Amino acid sequence: MASTIFTSRKLAAKLAAKYGTPIYVYNLRGLEARAKQLLEACSIAGCLPRYAIKANPHERILKLFARLGLGFDASSEYEGELAVSIGIAPQKINLSSQQPPKDLEKILQSRVEFTATSLHQLELVAQTGWQGNIGVRINPGIGAGGTNRTATGGVSASFGIWHEYIPKILRWQKRSGCQIVRLHIHIGSGYDPKIWHSSINTALSLVEQLPSVTILNMGGGFKVARMPDETEAGMAKIIRSFNIALKDFRRRTDRDLRLEIEPGTWLVANNGLILSRVVDIVDTGKNGFQFIKLDTGMNDFLRPAMYGAQHEIEVLNQATSKKHYVVVGHNCESGDILTPEPGNPELIRPRLLNMAGIGDLVAIGGAGAYGASMRVAGYNSFPSAAEVFVDE
Ligand SMILES: Cc1ncc(COP(=O)(O)O)c(C=O)c1O
Repeated sequence: MASTIFTSRKLAAKLAAKYGTPIYVYNLRGLEARAKQLLEACSIAGCLPRYAIKANPHERILKLFARLGLGFDASSEYEGELAVSIGIAPQKINLSSQQPPKDLEKILQSRVEFTATSLHQLELVAQTGWQGNIGVRINPGIGAGGTNRTATGGVSASFGIWHEYIPKILRWQKRSGCQIVRLHIHIGSGYDPKIWHSSINTALSLVEQLPSVTILNMGGGFKVARMPDETEAGMAKIIRSFNIALKDFRRRTDRDLRLEIEPGTWLVANNGLILSRVVDIVDTGKNGFQFIKLDTGMNDFLRPAMYGAQHEIEVLNQATSKKHYVVVGHNCESGDILTPEPGNPELIRPRLLNMAGIGDLVAIGGAGAYGASMRVAGYNSFPSAAEVFVDE
């Protein structure tokens, strides 16, 4: 795997001198290449890739992906409004929100495609008098994730309509006069690529119970390698296996489905990093740990503290020796750890890094997704990191 730290020491120093630290740095050329790679993989099955805006809603990223021909997945009416406000056509957006949108009627009339994620949301659709097309997100009873907290299916997940309630959905359809044309599932983020095969078969068994469905949206969750020992989901291979399953479904049922996916992480995660500076180095004695304290932390990047997520970290100096450090953020919060134990944010796991000094630059890789968009803005009143683009 190529390193997720895509800036050279020289470029990092230049950026830090120009913009200060901490900053999120995004790789424009990498983002474009990734989107093109995805579109090519999707073309195998005539699949529409929708970018999951929640991963990173930066205007330049949305505009780039729109220009290249991607559709969009909005997870709140605000994400939808943001996309429309920068010129993205409403028809390119599918909205599936956990919170019922405030003005559902306006959204339905605006030609944004709407996917209801609960029975209550279906009732709200009926109350507007809408009789057009609609999608439903179903919890298929299976969930998977890179960590427990990124699984979004199964009995412990509140996302989508429980699969056993399909008869209720069908009764609602009859009553409302709407057409359920899209079935949407998203069972989690960053899970083992091997699970995709069984998840499309599960999805297709749900489609069989919903005769009006013509579009199958398999959600996001495609894994990237954020650490050198991780394996990325091979998009072409996954789409090929989807295509085989869809062809088999067509043979059995005579139904032709249009496929959609909505990756966030896969498109942007490794095209973003955080550039920060060491502000202090402390230790807890001979039986304790050496801590590198950065001028960033959970207020800019929550994933390690929230999930025990692992991200590459590099001290960008020319040191010839290495040392084990626990890397921590600048927040007055014991959970603000950037090197937690994998999958366990309660514990720390020292990393072997270049011997560091106060003032050294430090890069944290894989921060393009759920970095700026999921930050704990306002904590300790630290200002948020600025976002800058490079053309690597
Ligand atoms: C409904 C839905 N679609 C797509 C995504 C994108 O997932 P990922 O960034 O793992 O590809 C998410 C992530 O939470 C989601 O909830």
